[in-house]
Amino acid sequence: MKNVLVTGGAGYIGSHTVVSLVEQGFYPVVVDDLRSSSSLILEGLSTLVKDGYTFHREDVCDLDSMTRLFQEYRFDAVIHFAAYKSVGDSCEEPLKYYHNNLLGLINILGLCRDFCIPKFVFSSSCTVYGEPDEKQVYEHTPKRLPESPYGFTKWMGEQIIEDLHRNVVPFQTLCLRYFNPIGAHPSGMIGELPKGIPNNLLPYITQTATGELSSLTIFGDDYPTPDGTCIRDYVHVCDVADAHVQSLFFSDPNPLCFFNIGTGCGSSVLEMVRLFEQVSGKTLPYTIGKRRKGDITEIFANVNASKNLLGWSAKRTVEDAIRDAWNWEQRRNKTHD
Ligand code: NAD
Ligand code: WQD
Repeated sequence: MKNVLVTGGAGYIGSHTVVSLVEQGFYPVVVDDLRSSSSLILEGLSTLVKDGYTFHREDVCDLDSMTRLFQEYRFDAVIHFAAYKSVGDSCEEPLKYYHNNLLGLINILGLCRDFCIPKFVFSSSCTVYGEPDEKQVYEHTPKRLPESPYGFTKWMGEQIIEDLHRNVVPFQTLCLRYFNPIGAHPSGMIGELPKGIPNNLLPYITQTATGELSSLTIFGDDYPTPDGTCIRDYVHVCDVADAHVQSLFFSDPNPLCFFNIGTGCGSSVLEMVRLFEQVSGKTLPYTIGKRRKGDITEIFANVNASKNLLGWSAKRTVEDAIRDAWNWEQRRNKTHD
């Protein structure tokens, strides 16, 4: 049984990763102060994995409590999810984002070095590619300066990790650049739980379908794409979770690796709306609005490296993800009634 520290393990991607880790025989030690999650996710996790994990309500920015945790357990690996993630919010409150996302990372990286942890996995993002020249991006596609402070925290997070690896090789690090994670666990026990009005497309769609929100606004239909709406690489959150488990099995002479975590295929916003209507049997009210500032036209992952080197590829379809997201939304709605 290997102990794995999962910071942000009560969050959207973190909670699904905890389930995958337990299924593969690991013992996740979750650290999360629940600032962007809720006890509903912990209840769902306990139903799914029983006492297969342990939970500590702590702030990763609190170095003393993180040090105590590293003293208490001998971690075989650390997966660092804990961060804020809203692009819009980060433009309103950049200091909050730089403080939490960078200080949390620096604390955890320092402890991994001091306690000789062999493996570190960092939640990065396709946002580090900015607006790329090519729609399909490789891990070696040049990084571009992101549009938002949030994006910068991921860009700088990778830079901090690279700098740490420049002179010493403290541990093997994988930076996983997620594209657009969507969906939920097929049981409907855990899923995405946005606070307030969602920024991301799928929760906006599902909350519109339940009537919680009145109508979806599609941000622009005048982009140079076949139907005029933006194209993204939507990947099932359970596949994203599995990529983390695979990262723990990964061994390579290169101590610092970057992997795209996507499906390799793009879908437009209108395609997502149509797919949702097919899967749910509901008609989704929507209007076409103005372009959203900072949105890029089209991006999807090249997945050769994640497939051939990491040994991971997405197994579930976008339809699977939409079905699971819809199942979760309906269940969540009932729980709140
Ligand atoms: P999330 O907000 O659902 O989960 C993050 C979790 O971290 C939350 O449970 C929150 O309570 C916790 N947290 C935040 N700051 C903390 C702190 N200081 N101490 C303790 N806990 C703290 O987000 P998510 O979608 O699961 O994203 C996880 C990671 O993946 C983040 O680093 C995010 O930037 C990155 N990422 C997400 C996406 C996406 O679309 N969801 C895409 C690319 C990268
Ligand atoms: C998807 C598409 C919108 C909402 C963000 C972050 C990125 C990464 C993934 C973390 C876009 C359109 C959306 C709506 C819409 N996260 N849309 N109406 O912008 O690709 O990426 O999440 O690292 O950094 O920027 O995802 O889900 O917000 O949008 O038309 O109400 O849906 O314009 O084309 P995005 P998203």
